[in-house]
Amino acid sequence: MHLINTQVDDSLERLRAKLEQEKERPHHAMDPYFYRSHLVHERELTHLVFKSWIYALHVSEIPNAGDYQLLEIGEDNIIIARGEDGNVHAMHNICRHRGARVCEQASGNRKTFVCPYHGWVYNTDGSLKAARETHMMTDFRPETMGLKQVRCVTFMGLVFINCDPEAGDFLSALENIRQPLGAYDLDHAQVAHRQTYRIHANWKLVLENYLECYHCATSHRAYAKMHTLKDLEEKSAPIVNAMLERADAVTGIQGISKEHTKIYLDAESFGACVHTMRYGLFDGYLTGSQDGKPVAPLMGNIKDYDGGAGDYQMGPLTFMLNYPDHCVLYRFIPRALTETDMEVVWFVRGDAVPGKDFDVEKVTWLWHHTTMEDEYIIMRNSLGVNSRFFEPGPYHPEFEFTLQKFVRWYLHTLEHSLSING
Ligand code: FES
Ligand SMILES: [Fe+2]
Repeated sequence: MHLINTQVDDSLERLRAKLEQEKERPHHAMDPYFYRSHLVHERELTHLVFKSWIYALHVSEIPNAGDYQLLEIGEDNIIIARGEDGNVHAMHNICRHRGARVCEQASGNRKTFVCPYHGWVYNTDGSLKAARETHMMTDFRPETMGLKQVRCVTFMGLVFINCDPEAGDFLSALENIRQPLGAYDLDHAQVAHRQTYRIHANWKLVLENYLECYHCATSHRAYAKMHTLKDLEEKSAPIVNAMLERADAVTGIQGISKEHTKIYLDAESFGACVHTMRYGLFDGYLTGSQDGKPVAPLMGNIKDYDGGAGDYQMGPLTFMLNYPDHCVLYRFIPRALTETDMEVVWFVRGDAVPGKDFDVEKVTWLWHHTTMEDEYIIMRNSLGVNSRFFEPGPYHPEFEFTLQKFVRWYLHTLEHSLSING
């Protein structure tokens, strides 16, 4: 089940030819080559994933100086730590001597990171604190030998990293969603639960599944009975418009349903996608739970349930679905050609008490259930796409509109990578 035949007959010429072929067949699913090629996978990491803004963690997960978590992307590993200065720092988990990982445990608290190989010692902001017997080395400059830094920004308690030192400004792009996202006061939220779902399929198949709701009616019965996104706009418009009309007054938040979309090729800078819109729940449903009834106290400054849910995108791989009483974050990370980590994080109010104000099982039920359904269909998708007999079919113009935006950006990025370095 998990073994995928990968492309062995591969070269840059083949990639070029495949990219040309895609231009002759717009609005169709991509050729299986893009899901099977190791050469493509390597270029994706270099030119797309490691140049994108990616959600790392919530500030409440590392509250004290020395608290840290590791983030795994591909075969790489990044430390996100709170330094003695109180700021959040991100750095590559690679010793500046001969490259050993300086930290193995996935999370914890450290005064310093000590390389297990020859004992170099790094501060929690990455700077080199001590390196044994280096007084013998005449041109050794400790101030230049800190762990390599990774760009890191915090927006409303959400920490994002970017491995490209030249990456554009993400915070200015995120300002466009401050009004609607601010309603949830994520700065003071808590992580009720987070779970990594390892999917044995190429990351694009996993992401593409998230980017369309054509499959919602057929694959997600629990989701589809309460979320209008499973229908075409012409059908859902009366419910959505009624919700939009009452949203500000009912929630008490001016501009909670403000719309903004600059994603993929339209993003303000590479990998700085930002999107928000608010869509409706069917009458009688207040939130995304098993029965549509509230599962936690209202988030932030929200006064009441308006029958809506906020849809967000931050960067190419991170999304949020925000109900009045809880928020659900999705992040997609490639680990290998046919291995993807889908991370789901559930947020509730910071002052809500587990077991008293909310029950984790109830908060997580719908999106755990829906994610398991997605895993099932993604695996079946992967098996078909990896067959030599697969012939890509046409995308749906409305349901698969956003997915096509991703595909155009993705192919453009690969093509651009060929013009930069052979
Ligand atoms: S590799 Fe880290 S001290 Fe030598
Ligand atoms: Fe799905």
